[in-house]
Amino acid sequence: MRLTWSDVTPKPLWLTRRQLMAGGGALLATPALAKIEAAKSPYSTDEAPNSFEDITTYNNFYEFGTGKGDPAEYAGALTVDPWSIVIDGMVDRPGTYDLADVVKGQPLEERIYRFRCVEAWSMVIPWIGFQLSGLLDRVGVQPGAKFVAFETLVRPEEMPGVASPFIDWPYREGLRLDEAMHPLTILATGLYGEAMPRQNGAPIRLVVPWKYGFKSIKSIVRISLVDTMPPTTWNMLQPSEYGFYSNVNPKVDHPRWSQASERRIGAGLFGGRQDTLMFNGYEAEVASLYAGQDLAADF
Ligand code: MTE
Repeated sequence: MRLTWSDVTPKPLWLTRRQLMAGGGALLATPALAKIEAAKSPYSTDEAPNSFEDITTYNNFYEFGTGKGDPAEYAGALTVDPWSIVIDGMVDRPGTYDLADVVKGQPLEERIYRFRCVEAWSMVIPWIGFQLSGLLDRVGVQPGAKFVAFETLVRPEEMPGVASPFIDWPYREGLRLDEAMHPLTILATGLYGEAMPRQNGAPIRLVVPWKYGFKSIKSIVRISLVDTMPPTTWNMLQPSEYGFYSNVNPKVDHPRWSQASERRIGAGLFGGRQDTLMFNGYEAEVASLYAGQDLAADF
């Protein structure tokens, strides 16, 4: 029996596929972290998730190349076990933590989130993850810390894309501390009830649903608590086009294209265009974080 991703469509068949996996034994290893029993979060959207195939074949993960199909083609070689994360800077308990220790005790939830890329496409993704705030509370954020900086693994022998100097590796991202502590902000370890596919940022990636997708850094190996705004990859590359905040905002266009609408991947040629929502539809939850800020200046 050989399954390909194209055998997989949203929810109804998802269970079937898992039953096949259970019976398939060695063919597909049992995911170590993701649990299908993860509680469904009240933060989930009711919108229908994209198919597993859409989510795992149309990706941005420049460490594996710049093409949308490159991550699915090349990320299979990435070793994700063992995996450890350095947590450092202004924390009470800095250290190098094994992934198992990072996720220990954190309640896993299924979070079905809208995901809006700065390139003006979108998806709905059923992540499995836990709140970043839970981890930050565990390591103890010191007074004076104002931002959280993240870095992705750089492993040239498994990541063909890092041979290209166009990005100053490692891929870097950052959040203000209040954004990082917000309950919508999660570290995701899986999707569709399975351990995170490599092309989506295995074994652990950030998801910040009210920000453009590039803020959701993949395959994280370092989390640092700092007191100044950290450098971020897209801002370093092109500061006039990509700001630190990168909140989804239909009223603030990218200098080269409109952000007023988006193409929902998988919705077909004619059904797929829809208006982009302020903060990607999470305005009620997050607008207060930016009270008094000029979002055209702080883009
Ligand atoms: N993280 C790393 N390390 N490298 C990347 O190239 N691309 C970002 C983000 N995280 C990227 C990354 C961009 S541009 C997007 S849109 C999302 O990942 C895509 O996530 P997805 O492939 O899971 O949909």
